[in-house]
Amino acid sequence: KKKILIFCDPGIDDTIALIYAFSNPELEVVGIVADYGNTSRRFAVRNVQYLLELLGRTDVPVFSGAERALNGEDPVLQPTIHGDYGLGPFTPPNSEDRLKENFYEIIPLLIKHKSDLTIVTLGRLSTLATLFLLYPNLMRAFNDYYVMGGAFFVPGNVTPVAEANIYGDPIAAHVVMKSAKNVTLFPLNITDHIFITPELAKQLDVPGCGDILYPILDFYYEFYKTQIPDIEGSPVHDLIPMIALTNSDWFTYQNYLIYVQEQAGNARGLTIADMRPYETLPPAPIHRVATKMNDSHFEEHLIEIITKASR
Ligand code: BDR
Ligand code: CA
Repeated sequence: KKKILIFCDPGIDDTIALIYAFSNPELEVVGIVADYGNTSRRFAVRNVQYLLELLGRTDVPVFSGAERALNGEDPVLQPTIHGDYGLGPFTPPNSEDRLKENFYEIIPLLIKHKSDLTIVTLGRLSTLATLFLLYPNLMRAFNDYYVMGGAFFVPGNVTPVAEANIYGDPIAAHVVMKSAKNVTLFPLNITDHIFITPELAKQLDVPGCGDILYPILDFYYEFYKTQIPDIEGSPVHDLIPMIALTNSDWFTYQNYLIYVQEQAGNARGLTIADMRPYETLPPAPIHRVATKMNDSHFEEHLIEIITKASR
């Protein structure tokens, strides 16, 4: 089994990615960090804990991560896309405040798993960057970082050029790109094109989660329809790196030196891959970018993984 630690901001597609991670028998989730992003940190923590209750997996530790970006600005949340509380129209019924500032408890877990853990990040990189600032050697020990983020020579989603996770904290993204040695990025170039359609959703049977799965997906479709009227379904960005963990052969990867535009202004959060054909690459971490995905088995795989877990 591949052990993973997930940083996320649920968020509709984060929630789908979490459901997939718990359904895939080849993955073992050792912990979840919930950050501000699509919604506030407070609601993100609550949403993760609520989902774990539905899945019967409250044994998995939840850590509260960053509440804002490294530049200190107030977070710009995404209620139109992800709902007022991060789960579309849905509010967890037991909505008392569950936030504990327990992030220090993650350190023993990181030390314990440093030789066998993959880190998957589905939101802003603020918490991860902070860990790199405090524990650079420990953080460099991890096998792999799978990052949903970026847009390379394609339109962004929050601005004409920037993708939300990078735009939300470009300084943090810069720190992570500069410090981590083994990053794989899953940018909008891929994630904008892989859809869960209403037809596919009907075939996903998640015990205990049906009550939230269908309303959150419907909410997501409605949002995407306002953007692209003839769209059938919606992308599920955060699901893509999760799928790649056990289906690497569906993807084409290229190695590039990556830069992030950290400064405010029109280009904030722009991700740049140096695609010039160097014979000798400059001395900086080179990262993998997923540039293509063969999605011919996507639907079948999702049904198989998610519906099998229900048996
Ligand atoms: C990313 O931004 C968030 O809205 C999604 O959850 C995803 O992580 C896509 O740009
Ligand atoms: Ca996310």
